[in-house]
Order: sequence, then C-alpha cells, then structure tokens
Amino acid sequence: MSESVWYARILVVDDQVTHLRALCDILGRHDFDTTGCSTGEAALAELKHHPFDLLLTDLVMPGIDGLSLVEAARKLDPEIACIIMTGEGTVDTAIKAMKIGVLDYIVKPFKAASLLPVLERAIESRRLRRQNAMLETALRARVEELGRLNTVLDAARKEAERANQEKSTFLSSMSHELRTPLNSILGFAQILASDKFPKGQGDTKHFAGNIVQAGRHLLTLVNEILDLAKIEAGKVALAVGPMALDAVLRDAYAIVGPLAQARRIRLAPLAETRLELSADQTRVKQILVNLLSNAVKYNREHGHVSVRCEQHNGYARIAVSDTGLGLTPEQLAAIFQPFSRAGREDSNQEGTGLGLTITQRLVVAMRGSIEVESQPGVGSTFRIELPLLDSAAIPTQAASATPAGADSTPCRTPS
Ligand SMILES: Nc1ncnc2c1ncn2[C@@H]1O[C@H](COP(=O)(O)OP(=O)(O)OP(=O)(O)O)[C@@H](O)[C@H]1O
Ligand SMILES: [Mg+2]
Repeated sequence: MSESVWYARILVVDDQVTHLRALCDILGRHDFDTTGCSTGEAALAELKHHPFDLLLTDLVMPGIDGLSLVEAARKLDPEIACIIMTGEGTVDTAIKAMKIGVLDYIVKPFKAASLLPVLERAIESRRLRRQNAMLETALRARVEELGRLNTVLDAARKEAERANQEKSTFLSSMSHELRTPLNSILGFAQILASDKFPKGQGDTKHFAGNIVQAGRHLLTLVNEILDLAKIEAGKVALAVGPMALDAVLRDAYAIVGPLAQARRIRLAPLAETRLELSADQTRVKQILVNLLSNAVKYNREHGHVSVRCEQHNGYARIAVSDTGLGLTPEQLAAIFQPFSRAGREDSNQEGTGLGLTITQRLVVAMRGSIEVESQPGVGSTFRIELPLLDSAAIPTQAASATPAGADSTPCRTPS
C-alpha cells in the first residue's frame, strides 16, 4: 500500500448504522483515518470543518442523498475523491454520478477485498489531482514571474536604447562644437599663410588674436568634455570629507570677482556661514564658480548677484540668485543637457554649454540635488543642496538675498 493511502482521511456515509460501523472498522484496521456519519447532513457538517481525501457514501439516504452530498463535497473541495455505494443503482444513476465527478461506483453487498483496490485507485487519483493543481499553481507563479522579468527587461532595454540615443546626440553635438573653433583656427591660419591676401600689421594681429581665442575655447571644450566623460564613467575619485563652506564660497567669489567687475555686476557681500559640508572641496568650488559665472554672464548691465546659505533637513542649501535675463520653461527644460546654450549661441557671452551639465552631475555624485527658479527678464535662482557633515550643525545667518519672482518657474533635477 502506498504512503498516501496509509495516511488518507476517509469520510464514510451510510444510513445503515451496522453497515457503517462494519465499514469503519474494516478501514480502520487497514490504517485509514476514518470518520463515519449516518446522515448526509452530518457528513456535510464534517466536510465543512475537516479536510478529507475521500468520500465513500451510500446513494440512497433520507434527507441529503449520496449524489447531492458528492456535489456539495466537490464544491467545498474540487479535488476530493468520491465513491458511491449502492444496492439499488441503475445505469441512469451511474451515469449521473460519473457526470458530477464520482470516481467509482460499488454495488452492495461487497467484500473488503474488492473495496480496497477501489479506494486505493481513488486516493491515487486524488493525489495526482492535487499534485497537478500544485504544479499548475507553480506554473502560474512562474509565468507571472517571467512576465515581471520581461517587464524589467523591457524597461532595461528601453533605458539602454535611450542612453544609446543620448550618447549619439552627445557625440554629434560634440563634433559640431569642436569643429566650429577648429574651422575658425584653420580659416585664419590659412589667411595668414596665404600670399594671395596682402596683410597689414593690424590684420595679422587681428587674425592671430582670433586664432588664440578659438584655440582657448577649443581647449576649454576639450577639458570640459574630458571632465564630463570622467564623471559619467564614474571615474572621478571624489575626495569627499569635512569642508567649511565659508572658505570655498569666498574662493569662488574671488575667482568670479574680476568678471563681475568687468561687466559692472554687483556681487552682494557674503554673510558669514559656519556650515560644514561632507563633500569634495575642489568640486564644490567648481560648482560655485560655474553658478556664479553664469549669474554674472547672463545678467543685465548693473545687475546684482547674491548668495544665500541655510541648512535644511541635513543639507546645506546654497542659492545663487541674479537679476538677469532669466529662462523660459522651455529653456529650463534643456539647460542641464550637454552643449545646451538655451538659444544664446550667438550672444557675445562665451560658453561651451557644459557648465551646468557638469555641475548637475557633480552635485548628484556628492548625494545632493540642484533646482532652478527663473522668470524671464527678472532673474534666476539656482539652488543646490549638499549633505551637511553633521545634520545638527550650528545655525548660520542668511546671506543677503535677491530671490527670483513669486511666479517664477521651478525646475528640479533629482539627486
Ligand atoms: N543664471 C542664468 N541666467 C540665465 N540663463 C542662464 C543662467 N545660467 C545658465 N543659463 C543659460 O543656460 C545655458 C547653459 O549654461 P551652462 O553653464 O551649462 O553653459 P554656458 O554658460 O553656456 O557655458 P560654460 O560651459 O562655459 O558654462 C547658458 O548658455 C545660458 O543660456
Ligand atoms: Mg556656464
């Protein structure tokens, strides 16, 4: 006898109590876990409260008869194996019984020797059905898992395609940007080298000046492209450590000061801040110089630039505000893209369009974030947040502020 038969739970139902007892007795002796009921109602109550592997029921009983009991039992457990016993069965009842899922039909009186193989077959069938149901559940779970994996793969493929497209756009913008100053250098050098164009001393100086200017621009471009490429490849070793914001801000002010003076832009005096950051000092200086030089470059005559520092939820928030040209929502949407100059390519402000891209990547690499508020014709505020060394840092005084207008457009790049 197989192991599953050994432990099988059988519910025996017969209104003839002597027959019921005798059956339970025989089955008990064959190590079945047997429960006996003399009515369909009592059997149904048992089925509702206990799990059974097999229902062995008489066909004709007062109240709930055998077929109704099988139907009710299979509603409760579709895998239960059911066998009908009867002394007065007809072909019709046998067909009906099979239709509602009865596995076997035993004609009374029967001997234990003929009953046992029937039970064994039914229980084996029940075991197979359960196994099948379990396999189906496992298969469904696997199909769902595969579906989920497919979605993840699809998203990864789309992300790879997007990154690839971004790289192609970057490469074509880069070759265009490199070609412009190179063509200028070649053009002026050809004029200088040619005998066909008679040149006075003034012309020669002017052409050479243009070559130097284009050469410098080219060098800045190449350096910034290399810097960006290193940041993108994660090859920039950031020396993140404790650093005082005050000193770095003053250094950045000193660098941008002459440019501001030349353009008659007023840099508002810096208020003392005692905030300590956990960041790379050189890179923070680079970020501040980028933001301050933009605030000066894209300002108006006699405009203002100011910096305000405060702490916010464990971060130092540094806002660089100007009273300059400002940016429209469309311009804001593109300014962090490489080589994007927000339509100011032909202005007399030199630039590579990489400053904000590098700034944004560096801020994010130092676990910070950057956001912009701007109003065309009124001014912009570029706000960065960098982690404080200790979120319980000493409160700082706010520096003088020139925030952008109330109906300004915010634009945030997530960290
Ligand atoms: N404070 C600002 N006010 C108005 N427009 C700005 C401001 N900062 C940046 N922009 C616009 O965003 C564009 C991108 O700025 P970004 O700093 O990336 O490049 P850039 O200044 O042109 O060149 P560089 O690489 O030399 O910084 C600028 O060309 C400019 O049009
Ligand atoms: Mg810039």
